[in-house]
Amino acid sequence: MDKALSGIRVLDMTHVQAGPTCSQLMGILGADVIKLEPPTGDVTRKQLRDIPDADSLYFTMLNCNKRSITVNLKNPMGKEVFTDLVKCCDVVMENFGPGVLERLGFGWQQVHKINPKIVMASIKGFGNEGPYAKFKAYENVAQAMGGSMSTTGALDGPPTATGAQIGDSGTGVHLLAGILAALIQRQRTGRGQFVECAMMDCVMNLCRVKFRDHQRIERGPLPEYSIQEFDDFAPRAANDSGGGQLGNAVLCKPGGPNDYIYVVVQEHVWPAIAKRIGGEDLAVDVRFTDINVRRKNQQAMWNLIGEFAGQHTKWELMEILNEIDVPCGPIMSTKDLVNDEHVALRDMVVSLPHPERGEFLNIGCPIKLSDSPAEIVRSPLLGEHTDEILNELLGYEDSHIQHLRESGAFTKSPPKAEEYHPLRA
Ligand SMILES: CC(C)(COP(=O)(O)OP(=O)(O)OC[C@H]1O[C@@H](n2cnc3c(N)ncnc32)[C@H](O)[C@@H]1OP(=O)(O)O)[C@@H](O)C(=O)NCCC(=O)NCCS
Repeated sequence: MDKALSGIRVLDMTHVQAGPTCSQLMGILGADVIKLEPPTGDVTRKQLRDIPDADSLYFTMLNCNKRSITVNLKNPMGKEVFTDLVKCCDVVMENFGPGVLERLGFGWQQVHKINPKIVMASIKGFGNEGPYAKFKAYENVAQAMGGSMSTTGALDGPPTATGAQIGDSGTGVHLLAGILAALIQRQRTGRGQFVECAMMDCVMNLCRVKFRDHQRIERGPLPEYSIQEFDDFAPRAANDSGGGQLGNAVLCKPGGPNDYIYVVVQEHVWPAIAKRIGGEDLAVDVRFTDINVRRKNQQAMWNLIGEFAGQHTKWELMEILNEIDVPCGPIMSTKDLVNDEHVALRDMVVSLPHPERGEFLNIGCPIKLSDSPAEIVRSPLLGEHTDEILNELLGYEDSHIQHLRESGAFTKSPPKAEEYHPLRA
């Protein structure tokens, strides 16, 4: 079936989470994604394993809709295979540590020379230049350095990492936008280009509204925050709404760790909330009549809402509050989500068969295209498609593939110099 990215071939050297997030989305959108792995495989295949000797969920949930080929890029014959693959792909992707690709002899200049039409997409922690360029990065490093951790957490607690993987997956989604833009530009110019996303930059982009607050502080305290005293940087906001309306997470019955509902007290819904929780008297209480006084008295307001919430479960409250048009959302645990009817209806949790694992759950595609419906296909086993790809894409004969194999192009240890006989020299 024709898909949005049918006809686009991606050579995906990415590993761990940031890059694979992007290439998995490209695969789901219809691109032919060839995951090129070292002979030992993407390191996540073996990380956080829950079933002995089977690919981990860390790997299988980030590498669906891809084919896998193993190539030893430190082996001369492996380099030759890589060069041939670059010639017949539209996009090449990587998120190695700083300098890795250059050491392998495949930086942007070299790849561009091999295929001037190729789009090369790269993720680094901090980009290719500047004082931090040489540093490696993981999710929480990017959250720490991009402004997320300093603005997340309890008002008087330590900086806190958010569970949403904004450094890794967030950067992957940014990279997807960059790749698609570069492919569209290529349609006009015929030229490829280098697309670079730094994790720190992407986290900053996702923290944009915190820089709004950073500048507003110069002109006085920020009334939507429940703290009273400000320094000269955006503070942690706990569960304060951070927008133009007051909001907070309110504890519900029976008081478990996720028995909360997030309530936004929109200006025009306050009279309805007040009537529902405290009757006509509360609706005209001068402490709360408009958002300005409500901000000043917000603790008293949250106490009243909290007293009401404590008599209901989060699901009862969701119904009660939605009936009077109050924007609200129960805090949903992972268990709530995988069992949720709405989530299931939107195909946001899918069950996939896997030859080593049996069935496993994956998150569905959050991008819904009416003419390119998503179909999620299980992740490949290590090197599952090596021969198929070499044969089908590069036209390599079986005997040549065998020779490459014997020369160490797909195996762990590079062959000794005297064992290396380039067949096609
Ligand atoms: C994630 C990260 C910290 C991991 O660091 P690491 O495990 O030390 O891995 P690196 O990427 O630095 O190095 C990979 C090594 O594997 C080798 N390798 C990778 N693919 C290979 C292949 N197909 N054949 C042979 N060798 C291969 C590289 O040559 C490199 O070896 P070298 O150090 O001898 O040059 C690092 O890759 C990084 O900072 N990436 C950019 C930021 C990022 O994406 N982080 C988020 C990850 S979720």
